[in-house]
Amino acid sequence: MDNILEVKNLNIDIVENKSTKSLVENVSFNVKRKGSLGIVGESGCGKSITAMSIMQLLSHPLKATKGKIIFNDGSKSIDMREANSNIMRKIRGKEISMIFQEPMTALDPLFTIEEQIAEVLKFHTDLKKVEMKKLVLEMLTKVGIPQPQRIMKNYPHQLSGGMLQRVVISMALILNPKLIIADEPTTALDVTIQAQILELINDLRSSYDTSIIMITHDLGVIAETCEDVIVFYAGQIVEEGNIMDIFHNTSHPYTKGLINAVRSLGDKETELFTIPGTVPVAGEFSKGCRFAERCGEAMAICREKEPELMEISPGHNTRCWLYNGGDTNV
Ligand SMILES: Nc1ncnc2c1ncn2[C@@H]1O[C@H](COP(=O)(O)OP(=O)(O)OP(=O)(O)O)[C@@H](O)[C@H]1O
Ligand code: SF4
Ligand SMILES: [Mg+2]
Repeated sequence: MDNILEVKNLNIDIVENKSTKSLVENVSFNVKRKGSLGIVGESGCGKSITAMSIMQLLSHPLKATKGKIIFNDGSKSIDMREANSNIMRKIRGKEISMIFQEPMTALDPLFTIEEQIAEVLKFHTDLKKVEMKKLVLEMLTKVGIPQPQRIMKNYPHQLSGGMLQRVVISMALILNPKLIIADEPTTALDVTIQAQILELINDLRSSYDTSIIMITHDLGVIAETCEDVIVFYAGQIVEEGNIMDIFHNTSHPYTKGLINAVRSLGDKETELFTIPGTVPVAGEFSKGCRFAERCGEAMAICREKEPELMEISPGHNTRCWLYNGGDTNV
């Protein structure tokens, strides 16, 4: 299998008191071996819960109710939705690692940096203490921590946000996982540090041959790090393709809106562009296209019938009636 991960027809619901509301619907995507997939969309579109479902990290009332999440490490395939907790413990951190927006979610304030990184090694390997120490030091050096000998004795509160994110990246990479899921890894950092961390992720990824899923609301981050992109809107994929398709043959009005917003940010001559309106409340989607209320190109059919995701050129799919002869029949 050329893909390290295949997500097929995934549904994530809120399951409460016999009622079920759908948050993520019929989502399918692949991550190529050594590939980089970006997931982009505004806040509340379902990016994080999709990532958490891959790692079986959803908790009540959220549940992945349908679909397959096939992880293939090159020798075996595992359906992550079915895997038991023993298997998941072995996979988390070793085969697949996650990096979150807020580094402190992955760190314990009561332990030194060395103790925390060594803990990952203790759990997954039989290395001796001195070997672990050597590896921790090597990894901190690789992620560009200055004076790693000194820093490894520090506690998290003694380090800046950028340094903490480097520590988290070193923890995520120390066992050379096959897949990294980075959920807004630079959002909490200032712009210069953000650029450094993205460069670091890119460098490490190519030297370790790791695949990555980069989740972000920022198309600039996608442009820096990804080969393939899926655009999420209101719990669905609305456009998918390679980076050229998404930026240069943009099809979906929502993606166009996201790109215009980024371009206007960088252009002092034009007014700042934002997509009017807001993402509809999860689970309360009206019939028809979920973007219709905010779309400047909406037609009659858009409010009546939901468009399917359809291929408009090889590997480039879009969910929009403009590409489906939608203006002719309501
Ligand atoms: N524990 C929960 N209980 C109920 N609803 C939830 C829960 N967690 C997330 N949701 C809902 O699921 C939807 C998707 O959330 P998710 O966190 O995946 O969004 P996101 O795309 O990652 O947004 P952001 O860019 O803000 O991180 C949101 O509408 C959110 O309110
Ligand atoms: S289907 Fe209609 S409303 Fe939805 S994005 Fe396309 S044109 Fe806009
Ligand atoms: Mg999120």
